[in-house]
Amino acid sequence: MSKIIGSVATSHIPGIGGAIAKNLQHDPYWKPFFDGFIPTREWLANNPPDVVVVVYNDHGLNFFLDKMPTFAIGAAQVYISEDEGWGIPTVPPLEGDPALSWAIIEGVVQDEFDVTTCQEMLVDHAVTIPLQLLWPEGPPPVKIVPVAVNTVQHPLPSPARCLKFGQSIGRAIEAYAPALKVLVISSGGLSHQLEGERAGFINPQFDALCLNALINQPEKLTGYTTHAIVELAGSQGAEILNWITGRGIVQGVAREVLRNYHIPISNTASALQVLEQVGVPRS
Ligand code: DHB
Ligand code: FE
Repeated sequence: MSKIIGSVATSHIPGIGGAIAKNLQHDPYWKPFFDGFIPTREWLANNPPDVVVVVYNDHGLNFFLDKMPTFAIGAAQVYISEDEGWGIPTVPPLEGDPALSWAIIEGVVQDEFDVTTCQEMLVDHAVTIPLQLLWPEGPPPVKIVPVAVNTVQHPLPSPARCLKFGQSIGRAIEAYAPALKVLVISSGGLSHQLEGERAGFINPQFDALCLNALINQPEKLTGYTTHAIVELAGSQGAEILNWITGRGIVQGVAREVLRNYHIPISNTASALQVLEQVGVPRS
């Protein structure tokens, strides 16, 4: 049976890709952000995964506002990055694991989640940047299963729905016969708003509440409506829904291996949280 190691949840600000391309990891602006990934990579070296399930939101590259699935799962052999470039080196195609993708799709549909299945899927910075941060040396030595959550076009799925969706994905992974080690990447957040009167809005108190709850009390976040989340975390802070989904996938009791929080990077409260699954699933 496959095993879920844990999760790495991280912001995916596009400027990170530019900083990597320009080797700015030790620049005073970027160092507090990049330094969080040094112990993360050490942890990863001791817990190497075969597959990464990346929970993210598409930023208009694969889905646009005219067609927006609430939940979509990739089932492709290969995923190509079509993100904006600005002269940044292009990211090589990422290898998929269609067999695991279909096992997850079967599981969640049986659990009454009506997902969009994508046998072709373009990915963007929300998928590529976390992978570059974890494997800076080159192409990631893992296959990926992208899981897209709509955090963009209202109505958004509720935090409660996202947690249950994640738990369903987690059960499907743990019931998957091949003995794979699976890491979850939860991409996005934390509080940020890119447009309008509140552009630049950041809420460290709410971010701390989320980080604490995500360890072993994710249910604490299911009482919020999506509008309350936008109010508290900013319009793009709704990307916390990816973190809640990812925490659902981790299933069992978790241990916080590390966290890093630094404000701001670009317009965003940058955050990193590594959770390791330590206990048997609670339900
Ligand atoms: C920024 C953050 C994001 O999550 C994103 O998708 C785009 C831009 C930013 O802070 O610049
Ligand atoms: Fe984003």
